[in-house]
Amino acid sequence: MNKKVYIETYGCQMNVNDSEVVLSILQGVGYERTTDMGEADLILANTCSIRENAEQRVHGRIDVFRLEKKKRPGVIIGILGCMAERLKDKLLEGRIVDLVAGPDAYRSLPAMVAAVTPGNPQIEVQLSRTETYDDITPVRMDHNGLSAYISIMRGCNNCCSYCVVPYTRGAERSRDPYTIVAEARDVFSKGYKEVSLLGQNVDSYLWKAPEDCPEHAGESVSFAQLLEMVALISPELRVRFSTSYPSDITDEVLFTMAKYENVCNHIHFPVQSGSDVMLEKMRRKYTRQWYLDRVARIREIVPDCGLTTDVIAGFCGESEQDHQDTLSLFELVKFDAAFMFAYSERPGTLASKKYEDDIPQDVKTRRLNEIIELQGRMGFIRYKEQIGKTLKVLVEGPSKKTPDELCGRAGNYMMCVWPDKTHKVGDYVEVTVIDATPATLICKLA
Ligand code: SAH
Ligand code: SF4
Ligand code: F3S
Repeated sequence: MNKKVYIETYGCQMNVNDSEVVLSILQGVGYERTTDMGEADLILANTCSIRENAEQRVHGRIDVFRLEKKKRPGVIIGILGCMAERLKDKLLEGRIVDLVAGPDAYRSLPAMVAAVTPGNPQIEVQLSRTETYDDITPVRMDHNGLSAYISIMRGCNNCCSYCVVPYTRGAERSRDPYTIVAEARDVFSKGYKEVSLLGQNVDSYLWKAPEDCPEHAGESVSFAQLLEMVALISPELRVRFSTSYPSDITDEVLFTMAKYENVCNHIHFPVQSGSDVMLEKMRRKYTRQWYLDRVARIREIVPDCGLTTDVIAGFCGESEQDHQDTLSLFELVKFDAAFMFAYSERPGTLASKKYEDDIPQDVKTRRLNEIIELQGRMGFIRYKEQIGKTLKVLVEGPSKKTPDELCGRAGNYMMCVWPDKTHKVGDYVEVTVIDATPATLICKLA
């Protein structure tokens, strides 16, 4: 009988892909995945540290795991990911968990699991300058076998002052592009129709062939080149990517997007703030004007490009004017959608050492709500602008609300629904937009 592993994943898409890597590594030593914690021999949480409430949620889950272990003392409980890296042996206090493994330690998991005995927890949180798990075929966790995450790099070399990621994920490293293309080909041959290339800053992807590599000696591959290599696999394979960094995205990337129809016209383009004072304090390497100019360039080279963003309200010292600058930027750009957050101080970051977290919670919340309200209106305008257009959509399945309708995303990432009795999951369908809600395009077959 195979042993069973249950895994919960928090945080970003890269963490989801890491869980898939973990499942693959554990499968190699006879573990099979279960979605029922009650039958698991090994319970894992792959965790996120990005904001305090992300960590709070995981602490709540550890309490639940502990109850399970009370019932079945043989169960092994492990914490993976960014919280494991950030909190290290603090997670072992009170002997609640048996295993703590940081993001670069997953190859050690089989040995660690085997070594766990009562009162003998295992910890491995060493970060690596080279680990990319490039030879591991992830065990996909998506439900419909349609869209696969492929990590193209790990870590981050930026030093945004609010951000914990460089500490939890370590230095940036780019994965061998030939293994990326091979993985994309492999999922395409298994029926997948979409790949998402993932990195904290995909625009700084740069692979240099090892000097002793006979096939590719002297070669280097940029993100634009990688994008093209993946796009060329098949016109039937859609390519998405995330995240783009405003000062690093090149025109070459934009031209590649424009050139290949299967590279989706959507850019996730986190701005963080519309105020130059805040951007400087955040150590983002661009100004408001630079950002606006890049948006203009995107819309020039990739017409109809979907644009989404991330923003932080109430960063250290943010004045009412800084906040107004963020609002006015949202009004100018009109994002399709945004992830909007109140600033959460993270221990160990530059901001936590250098600046006071001085915006009262109620002010943060009020400013965040103002951004959310404005973005709701701007997004709705963007959705309504699609009325009358014909879009190519990848069918994801029946629509949640109306089962005789299908749903799927357009290249620009907007969700479409339309009545349809003939197509099925994984088909490409042309639809015409006839109406819009703030987050869905109402369509008919074109
Ligand atoms: N690499 C991506 C972001 C990864 S983190 C980038 O550079 O854009 C995802 C988002 O979480 C960030 O874009 C930011 O908006 C938010 N975030 C990061 N640290 C935060 C903090 N301390 N408080 C609130 N939001 C934060
Ligand atoms: Fe964090 Fe900045 Fe790196 Fe994004 S680019 S992961 S916000 S340090
Ligand atoms: Fe969270 Fe780590 Fe991703 S902090 S957002 S899981 S890189």
